[in-house]
Amino acid sequence: ILEDASIVADWAARFVLQRITQFAPGPGRHFVLGLPTGGTPLGMYKRLIEFHKEGKLSFKYVTTFNMDEYVGLPRDHPESYHYYMWNEFFKHIDIEPSNAHVLDGNASDLVVECRRFEKLIQEAGGVHLFIGGIGPDGHIAFNEPGSSLVSRTRVKTLAYDTLDANKRFFDNDISKVPRQALTVGVGTVMDAKEVMILITGVHKSLALAKAVEEGVNHMWTVSAFQQHPQALFVCDEDATLEL
Ligand code: GLP
Repeated sequence: ILEDASIVADWAARFVLQRITQFAPGPGRHFVLGLPTGGTPLGMYKRLIEFHKEGKLSFKYVTTFNMDEYVGLPRDHPESYHYYMWNEFFKHIDIEPSNAHVLDGNASDLVVECRRFEKLIQEAGGVHLFIGGIGPDGHIAFNEPGSSLVSRTRVKTLAYDTLDANKRFFDNDISKVPRQALTVGVGTVMDAKEVMILITGVHKSLALAKAVEEGVNHMWTVSAFQQHPQALFVCDEDATLEL
């Protein structure tokens, strides 16, 4: 528990820096990072870009897999997660574009696309550190309430609460929010060696309480990480209101 969102961002970025540095990536030895979108991780990305510019951190031998993507939004739509990742992070660092994997929500066969993504993660040797945020309803990536806790990457129809929470990015018009998304499964994230979940703001406080103080429950999919051997929740004071 840290004081506020900016300290959470700084702490999370330092954690990533430490993990990548300890691993000492190089040719044929990539650090594999799972990445989230949303408002919460923006501060962390800013700090990581600063570390890169200060010469403290290179992404040359880092491979990334993003958690999710909307179905049907053009890649260059400002709200697509593809656009977000390039704009907020990838274009500012030295990652090889071919190592930065984001699900393609416009693939002609979405099922094949999801299988391809899982296979790529396996071929990369699995994820060393998966970073995630959560929705106010306790979803991780787009694993909406009721998702299987052993789910893999797949197409998911979004819950009303998620459409409502994300309409702020679509002119506050819920009808403009895509109804479906591609998302890694809870099982996909559970397979990572280490998981770090970032939770800030009072609107996430019920979800945090359900995540850590009640039983593992598929209605609050983030609670699955109680059973992960190396999971870390980094949150601000506001998010702890219900603990
Ligand atoms: C979306 C994403 C999640 C993210 C959540 C929270 O639903 N699919 O991966 O964690 O938003 O976003 P924010 O950080 O903006 O609250």
